[in-house]
Amino acid sequence: MISSQAALHAAYGGVVPEVAARHHLENICPVIEKAMADAGTTFPELDAVAVTQGPGLVGALLVGVQVAKSIAFVHGKPLVPVHHIAGHLEAPSLGADVPFPALALVVSGGHTSLFEMAARGQYHLLGRTRDDAAGEAFDKVAKLLGLGYPGGPVIDRLSEGANDRAHEFTIARIKDGRPDFSFSGVKTAVLYHVRREGIAPVADPAAAPAEIRDLVASFQRAVVTALLRKLKEAAQARRPRSLILTGGVAANRRLRRDAATLAEELGLPLFVPPIALSTDNAAMIAAAGQVAFEQGRRGGWDLDADPHLPLG
Ligand code: KG4
Ligand code: ZN
Repeated sequence: MISSQAALHAAYGGVVPEVAARHHLENICPVIEKAMADAGTTFPELDAVAVTQGPGLVGALLVGVQVAKSIAFVHGKPLVPVHHIAGHLEAPSLGADVPFPALALVVSGGHTSLFEMAARGQYHLLGRTRDDAAGEAFDKVAKLLGLGYPGGPVIDRLSEGANDRAHEFTIARIKDGRPDFSFSGVKTAVLYHVRREGIAPVADPAAAPAEIRDLVASFQRAVVTALLRKLKEAAQARRPRSLILTGGVAANRRLRRDAATLAEELGLPLFVPPIALSTDNAAMIAAAGQVAFEQGRRGGWDLDADPHLPLG
């Protein structure tokens, strides 16, 4: 059950924290009631209540934490705090038996990180973005070109069939040997290109001219290439038994295709959750919550949202 606010924030070209918190407050109880009714279950039947403790926008997190605490308190259920990224990392295990150790690339609007998982519930951070997240770069480039919010899906669509070799956007390699990412450079390169060529934002993304479609396809190729290069290098160094691709940007068709090719080349199985479980959802939080519950993790009644909660 997903109550998306994307259309609401589209008018502003990005998420407005205050608006997000207010709409969480309005929607959280109806969403829970509908999910429980659809599942044909009741609160007393639950084993535990899992909730995203962080990271994220504090206003939105607070709504979830308070509601989860209330349900757990009233029904005498254990409360299990979950890290948002743990949710993305556990999403593939909802539908498959992932062999571990796994190498997991998490690409979303707020995160671009590479994790090694020795087992479910065990997250070792290998590398992360030093500036923008991959999804953030998609969103900023889309905004620049008048393509709307969120930008990833539009760029994905416009790139299909376009010339991704029209421009060479290179992504700086981080030289200190860490598998870190950097995406602010490529976004700036697109910005300079747009200024130099005097490209105007489009009024209707569906009618974007070839010039823009080729531009976003070239940008997308650069981002996908940089992501998979790190995944490949890490796979060769760490020798995992499987690869995981997860997070909102994992919905990207080019990334999915190229990741599948890479996995085949490496002779490793690749696990990518279906799109509904790649972008933010509560099922992945339940999956991470189940593992954390079995590990004995519990939140007290003083559990607080943490917008900068670390993982791994
Ligand atoms: O995981 P997610 O739903 O939320 C966060 O935790 O951030 O990821 C949202 C991000 C946005 O930046 C959005 O533009 C991007 O995922 N995204 C995509 C696609 N679908 C969503 N990026 C590229 N291609 C897509 N098809
Ligand atoms: Zn997310």
